[in-house]
Amino acid sequence: MTRGRIAIALIVLATAGTTSACGEQGIELGSNPTAQDKLGAQLFSERCSGCHTLRAAGAEGSATKINDRERTDGPNFNQRKETNLQVLYALANGGYSGAIMPQNIVVGADAKAVAAFVAKYSGSEVNVPASPGAAPSGF
Ligand code: HEC
Repeated sequence: MTRGRIAIALIVLATAGTTSACGEQGIELGSNPTAQDKLGAQLFSERCSGCHTLRAAGAEGSATKINDRERTDGPNFNQRKETNLQVLYALANGGYSGAIMPQNIVVGADAKAVAAFVAKYSGSEVNVPASPGAAPSGF
């Protein structure tokens, strides 16, 4: 428990440092990102990167090694494709379980920007389509 608190405090400090030095450090949006992509990336890196991994936002908050795991580690969005609605649901309810992820970390237009951003950039390491029932690519 204490270890978790310390880790969160460190993450908050690290994020604050990054933001004041250069708000877009580590963000990789490819060519021609929209204004919404940029806002989504910025918000993700500020509010979600402590617990989730997503390359486009320069975020590495998910557990990578088993002995590195924390209770608050959330899914890695390079390896998991999320839709707009799934993200909005998770934001409003505090993840799918409602147990660990805080509810309403972003709301309103900010929530929409984050959801659109995650839907667009998640799943970069997945080569199957997001929709259930669709054939995996390569078949
Ligand atoms: C304190 C850590 C924490 C923060 C901060 C956090 N999350 Fe989470 N998130 C989790 C955990 C843990 C889960 C998995 C458990 C669950 O779904 O309840 C999760 C689950 C999710 C899911 C469901 C994924 C799936 O397929 O199971 C989405 C989508 C999500 N988070 C998006 C976000 C976004 C977007 C933000 C920033 C606005 C964010 N999270 C901030 C910890 C966090």
